[in-house]
Amino acid sequence: MTLTFKTSSPSSNRSTPKNSPGDDDSHFLHYRSYRAHTTTLFFVLVSLSLFVIFSLYSSPNAIYFATTRQAKPGTVTYVINVRDSSHIRRIKAEGVLWPGWEVMMIVSPKENVMPRENNYTCFYPNGEKLTAKFAVTLPFTNRTTFKCKLPGIYRHHHPIPTPILASSRSFELSPETRWPDLPLWNFVVFDTISTEHDVVLFVKGPNRGLGSNKPPGTFRCVFGEESDSAVKTTVTSSVQEVFRCPFPNVTMDYPVKIYLERVATEKEAMKVVPSVAYFSPKRRLVETRERALLCATTMVYNVAKYLREWVMYHATIGIQRFIIYDNGSDDELNDVVEGLKSERYDVMKVLWIWPKTQEAGFSHAAVYGNDSCTWMMYVDVDEFLFSPVWSNQSKPSDQMIRSLLPSDESMIGQVSFKSLEFGPSNQTRHPAGGVTQGYTCRREEEQRHKSIVLLSAVEHSLYTAIHHFSLKGEYEWRVADKEEGVVNHYKYQAWREFKAKFKRRVSAYVVDWTRVSNPTSRDRTPGLGFKPIEPEGWAQKFCEVMDMRLKRLTRKWFGHPEKNGYRMAWQR
Ligand SMILES: *[C@@H]1O[C@H](CO)[C@@H](O)[C@H](O)[C@H]1NC(C)=O
Ligand SMILES: *[C@@H]1O[C@H](CO)[C@@H](O)[C@H](O)[C@H]1NC(C)=O
Ligand SMILES: *[C@@H]1O[C@H](CO)[C@@H](O)[C@H](O)[C@H]1NC(C)=O
Ligand SMILES: *[C@@H]1O[C@H](CO)[C@@H](O)[C@H](O)[C@H]1NC(C)=O
Ligand SMILES: *[C@@H]1O[C@H](CO)[C@@H](O)[C@H](O)[C@H]1NC(C)=O
Ligand SMILES: *[C@@H]1O[C@H](CO)[C@@H](O)[C@H](O)[C@H]1NC(C)=O
Ligand SMILES: *[C@@H]1O[C@H](CO)[C@@H](O)[C@H](O)[C@H]1NC(C)=O
Repeated sequence: MTLTFKTSSPSSNRSTPKNSPGDDDSHFLHYRSYRAHTTTLFFVLVSLSLFVIFSLYSSPNAIYFATTRQAKPGTVTYVINVRDSSHIRRIKAEGVLWPGWEVMMIVSPKENVMPRENNYTCFYPNGEKLTAKFAVTLPFTNRTTFKCKLPGIYRHHHPIPTPILASSRSFELSPETRWPDLPLWNFVVFDTISTEHDVVLFVKGPNRGLGSNKPPGTFRCVFGEESDSAVKTTVTSSVQEVFRCPFPNVTMDYPVKIYLERVATEKEAMKVVPSVAYFSPKRRLVETRERALLCATTMVYNVAKYLREWVMYHATIGIQRFIIYDNGSDDELNDVVEGLKSERYDVMKVLWIWPKTQEAGFSHAAVYGNDSCTWMMYVDVDEFLFSPVWSNQSKPSDQMIRSLLPSDESMIGQVSFKSLEFGPSNQTRHPAGGVTQGYTCRREEEQRHKSIVLLSAVEHSLYTAIHHFSLKGEYEWRVADKEEGVVNHYKYQAWREFKAKFKRRVSAYVVDWTRVSNPTSRDRTPGLGFKPIEPEGWAQKFCEVMDMRLKRLTRKWFGHPEKNGYRMAWQR
């Protein structure tokens, strides 16, 4: 009997997994420290009762799992011992507790499952079996993912057992079955990307909160699951959720699981950050894509209806390639992207499912885009770069954005533009001609900037504050003045559009709708509070100056006069 989880009293907050950004470092400091504790009477009682349950479930024809080695935290490392050669199959998968009491099960790269089959099942130690619903196929590693609900009984467990993913509804557990700890979403290595020289790890947990970056020397990267054959390399950078390590020297059987470990200190024992990530050295692809001077990247969630206008506008003035990080949209994003591609726009989609990881996603895009882009523009789909200097141009040109960037000889590695925040401008629904046509009244004061960055100038740490990156020492950062260029930010749209965006944004700052954890954040909408109820006079808010410049320009460039006004090129 080798159950390794114990229950904790419901009053102990520390043991209840939380996923709010306000959560402190407690998991890092206390994670798994229970192992040192003496077994409590409570534990024994729970174990006994579970043993009884297992005994009921065991039968001579069952599939048994034999544990052959000590499991690393959060990994499923059993060897399957199939006594009955039926079609029932246990699928090797990494699990991670996802917000909303769901378990994200990520099938290991070497497993072969057919995606989009919903007939898999998650089995829990108490005998509960829940449907594993196909979620997505992850990019790069092509791993299939499923989501399972976490039974209520485990919500107060610490640690939580990782369910077993199997290809059948009937599956028998044995008392020898081990249940590795389920990594929690706020303490896990969640993704990696390789460069020519090293590997970049994206990790939730160790560096949390402002100014809490721990020195790189306190970590190591671990390649491989088995402690005897795992290879460790030094960490060369540890900033926010981004860690970098050189490749291991030896050839391994790729893809190989990759972890981050904190080296032992006098005060604390070595700790391993659990992982759902795999490493493969960068493959030298035959370069199919021509190198673009100017690309744009953005992270989207259910904004398909704005995408055509945004892509067509920016492509016309010089963005050659668009890399869209899709945060699990369930709108018509695919159709819009395919439509744009068929009209010869160079748009690619990267699925980025990790919750609340916008900075990490931007760092990822800097590395990913580095192969095929020289400059990268980071703006949202409700933001449009525009220069007042273009006002008199009768036609757009693909050199326009280029003209806002420094010459090749300069050491300027990043150019930022102030943004202007537009209000609802009397609109009550998404304007048919697009945001540039519908929203014309804005706040007077310029808001924080957005940037175009030279990817080769980005600092090794990949540090980003969303609005700009840190640059290598030899490069300078320039903020353009507003006569040169600005970003029109259609931030406060017609209420029914804004409401959806507002809900998502608020969810990043409040744990639930009634508990405010960061009420002073600049991201809060002035005077709006925390409830998604239309404030009185919304349509007239944030309206201090009329600004028709981009409306007139886009009408000239993209509009076709019609009986009742103009039809814009992006209207379908
Ligand atoms: C993932 O799938 C894509 C498209 O099917 C393929 O080009 C790529 O080589 C696959 N990657 C891996 C790691 O298998
Ligand atoms: C899942 O269902 C599909 C179609 O319903 C079937 O073809 C497939 O064999 C099933 N797979 C398993 C593993 O039961
Ligand atoms: C790789 O091997 C070389 C030579 O054996 C050694 O100098 C170097 O430190 C090793 N690098 C790593 C990351 O282990
Ligand atoms: C993606 O969307 C979900 C749901 O709206 C949100 O909780 C999450 O924070 C978003 N993630 C990113 C990286 O923006
Ligand atoms: C556009 O042309 C008008 C009239 O020719 C001129 O007054 C104005 O200054 C020009 N604007 C810009 C930004 O060049
Ligand atoms: C909104 O409507 C009011 C009242 O009709 C009008 O005074 C105002 O100029 C309009 N604002 C915009 C931006 O069109
Ligand atoms: C892009 O590649 C260049 C050349 O290898 C490198 O110097 C630079 O640091 C890379 N930038 C990023 C963001 O990976």
